[in-house]
Amino acid sequence: MKILITGSNGMLGYDLIDVLKNNHELILTTSKTLDITNKEEVFSVIDDKNPDIVINSAAYTDVDGCEENQDTAFSVNGDGVKNLALACKKFDCVLVHISTDYVFNGENTRPWIEDDEIGPISVYGKSKLKGEESILEILDKYFIIRTAWLYGINGKNFPKTMLELAENHDEVKVVYDEVGTPTYTPDLAKAISQLINTDYFGIYHITNSGSCSWCEFSKYIFEIAKKNVKVIPVTASEFARAAPRPNYSVLENKKWVENGFKPLRSYKDAIKEYLELLNE
Ligand SMILES: NC(=O)c1ccc[n+]([C@@H]2O[C@H](COP(=O)([O-])OP(=O)(O)OC[C@H]3O[C@@H](n4cnc5c(N)ncnc54)[C@H](OP(=O)(O)O)[C@@H]3O)[C@@H](O)[C@H]2O)c1
Repeated sequence: MKILITGSNGMLGYDLIDVLKNNHELILTTSKTLDITNKEEVFSVIDDKNPDIVINSAAYTDVDGCEENQDTAFSVNGDGVKNLALACKKFDCVLVHISTDYVFNGENTRPWIEDDEIGPISVYGKSKLKGEESILEILDKYFIIRTAWLYGINGKNFPKTMLELAENHDEVKVVYDEVGTPTYTPDLAKAISQLINTDYFGIYHITNSGSCSWCEFSKYIFEIAKKNVKVIPVTASEFARAAPRPNYSVLENKKWVENGFKPLRSYKDAIKEYLELLNE
């Protein structure tokens, strides 16, 4: 199939290329070659390239930055996605869009399923919800994939930050009252490559399996990487950040499993592989 990827130089974009390149014709775009907030450009590129599928991995992902730069957040994560949805409608292609656990308010005691009530508490979450809403309004042929706590080779992420801190700290303070599922971008990219071979359209939760707090995750990273760093648990409120985060944002991969796909491997197996890769 011919697949156009937006934000292809981002963290997920990088692994999508790796996973899809052998079986598909890829059209790679970045914010320089396709700014999704530019409606005319979106229509002209999709018309010109004529893809079967558009995968939108572009987003304004700086969660704290979104609180200050609300216009940019809503422009990229809301209007940009609407532009893509309108163009996919006009030129009859499937839209795969990546969304987030931050569309939920975090006040749950069991993993969130796709139909649970949404209620974002941050500007980032609200802007990502706008994107989802536009797709639901405009398109029939779409995959909205909510995922969480991403890390991969090509980008800033939590495991890399922990390893950097370990270079010159004996102890680090890490939040213990936010629970979620760290998800390895190559695993997510492989799941996307399976999903696009189907017409099981709709909203999906896709993450690695299992869950932990940031604090537990950091301890596991230090254990596997053999770093002697003491982890001091702190609450999110002690750890000043501009944007509020959901306390509990574990996503049950319900629809994924119901449609016959195998659950993704555990986050522990995935982070082990990632740390080995960083060590090579
Ligand atoms: N990271 C996470 O923990 C996480 C968790 C849940 C969901 N997600 C979602 O997963 C997706 C991928 O995330 P990621 O971490 O891979 O993101 P990322 O590394 O920040 O990459 C985002 C990409 O979007 C591009 N972009 C920004 N504004 C654009 C615009 N106006 N037009 C076109 N491209 C634009 C950026 O390009 P420039 O660098 O050139 O601006 C960048 O390449 C996003 O939808 C994100 O919301 C992420």
